[in-house]
Amino acid sequence: MSAISEIDLSALKVVKYPDPRLREVCTAVEEFDDSLRGFVERMFEIMYASNGVGLAAPQVGQTIRLFIANPTAEPGGEYEGVYINPEIIERSGSDVGDEGCLSFPGMSCKIKRAEAVTIRAANLNGETFTQTAEGLQARIFQHESDHLDGILLSDRMSTVAKITNRRLLKDLEEDYAETKR
Ligand code: CO
Repeated sequence: MSAISEIDLSALKVVKYPDPRLREVCTAVEEFDDSLRGFVERMFEIMYASNGVGLAAPQVGQTIRLFIANPTAEPGGEYEGVYINPEIIERSGSDVGDEGCLSFPGMSCKIKRAEAVTIRAANLNGETFTQTAEGLQARIFQHESDHLDGILLSDRMSTVAKITNRRLLKDLEEDYAETKR
């Protein structure tokens, strides 16, 4: 029985900056069972309800190496994917583009990423696959992989972007402190 089977799926919600769970280096997924499938289905519900294009497990408070992605933000379709224990094995080019994150609601900032990447991951059956992507999908792969190592937009953004978003970051910090009170 995996720890995932203990989760109350209905209670899952997006964890926001600066929650410390977003800072953990996540652990590898070892059991590919029905609980994992149910958890991933719930993640998709949450991602689409928030109009997201990617969501990593720590963003719903589970510090395991798994993310989901769909650059179209529309349920279903060929770009919808589950990436378990992912590893970026190749990067090429560079591209600066606007990036947001469901854990930083309302924030958007320019982030430099590789233009194209190849990712190796397992699917829900535990089978390994590789996929090469460019543009938005490559950006999502890099952003979500960062989450699994506890790296956030606030670490990647420029000093200028930090100043521009200072108020927003402070508000999120205050909101979080409020929930802890
Ligand atoms: Co994010």
